[in-house]
Amino acid sequence: MDVFVPIVLISVLIIVTALLILADHLLGGDEEKIVTLNDKEELKIESSDTLLNILSENKIFIPSACGGKATCGLCKVTVNEGGGELKPTEDPFLNAKEKEQGVRLSCQVKVRNNMNISIPEGLMDAVEYRAKVVNIEELTYDTKLVRFKLLKPETIEFKPGQFCQLRVPGLDVIRAYSIASDPKESNHVEFIVRLVPKGKATTFVHKAMLSGDEIILTGPYGDFYLREESNREMIMIAGGSGKAPIRSIMYRLQDLNMPRKATYFFGAVAKRDLYYTEAFMEIDKKYENFTYIPALSNPAEEDKWEGETGLITEVVDRKTGDLSEAEAYLCGSPGMINACLEVLRKHNIKEENIYFDKFD
Ligand SMILES: Cc1cc2nc3c(=O)[nH]c(=O)nc-3n(C[C@H](O)[C@H](O)[C@H](O)COP(=O)(O)OP(=O)(O)OC[C@H]3O[C@@H](n4cnc5c(N)ncnc54)[C@H](O)[C@@H]3O)c2cc1C
Ligand code: FES
Repeated sequence: MDVFVPIVLISVLIIVTALLILADHLLGGDEEKIVTLNDKEELKIESSDTLLNILSENKIFIPSACGGKATCGLCKVTVNEGGGELKPTEDPFLNAKEKEQGVRLSCQVKVRNNMNISIPEGLMDAVEYRAKVVNIEELTYDTKLVRFKLLKPETIEFKPGQFCQLRVPGLDVIRAYSIASDPKESNHVEFIVRLVPKGKATTFVHKAMLSGDEIILTGPYGDFYLREESNREMIMIAGGSGKAPIRSIMYRLQDLNMPRKATYFFGAVAKRDLYYTEAFMEIDKKYENFTYIPALSNPAEEDKWEGETGLITEVVDRKTGDLSEAEAYLCGSPGMINACLEVLRKHNIKEENIYFDKFD
């Protein structure tokens, strides 16, 4: 009896595995398939892996901050033919128009047939970098600036506001981090990383990563970037590590000699959450048309804070007038962004003039 039970279990397992292999074969698992890209390029594929992985193996790096778990919604591509049925995991990330156009989460689509797909040209520019950590600086008790030197390739071209992805060595974890550095500095990138308790990537960055470590980055990605052609008044709002892409945008605005009126609201809880305050105050002093407004929602008594207080939404509401001709750049937690969007709409901002990156 003791010997019989494991034998039955093993036999069942073997039969199930054989059936799965047969099913995979019948579904086109190991047959050659062709993925046609933007009606230009053809990829010959033998596995039935996800479209995201297959593209990555072919050096086409689609943003994928959750590493394929269908929680970030960043890995969208348009599947014109051969994508099969939409999965329930994709549904929350796609609006009606996207579904009609065949937009899919590439991490959820398996390549089982020939496919015809479209990828925005901008995404085709993302590259995989080998980079070396050259400096780690503590900005607050839970926020660090990490500076990387790009080793191979040695340079990056990005628009201020865009992000890269960092692969945590030894773990199947990929996370998005906005580039915080000066876009002129093409052989280095800097990230501002805020520790998330028990967070996989941020715990690695804060507790294990050392100067000299080599890391894989991909990028640049994203359509959150400074619209340089516009001369609209700018409202920038950030909380926590949301300061990262705005820092990069500010480098560029200074290079352009601050060509437009701009106000930057930075929301924090108490003084210990503020960083780069003096640097931004200096810019405020230097340019008449730039204003920096840090605001604390719950300053400690010892902070002796004389600046703006309240939630950043309340401060924005108090300090802004009509925004019908303005442009807004928002960066931070989804909760903060959603609340700020309501306030901006109350001040008549036009939807097409709002740009944001939700750090979720
Ligand atoms: C486009 C984009 C740009 C980003 N840029 C930056 C940046 O410049 N700097 C930065 O620090 N982060 C940035 N993020 C967020 C970053 O990608 C990670 O999500 C974050 O660092 C947490 O990763 P983790 O692996 O440590 O946590 P995980 O292991 O993914 O999360 C652990 C737990 O914490 C929760 N959680 C995740 N993030 C937060 C949070 N912020 N606050 C509270 N709970 C959280 C998760 O839901 C989960 O339950 C960006 C995200 C996006 C999409
Ligand atoms: S990689 Fe995050 S949803 Fe696909």
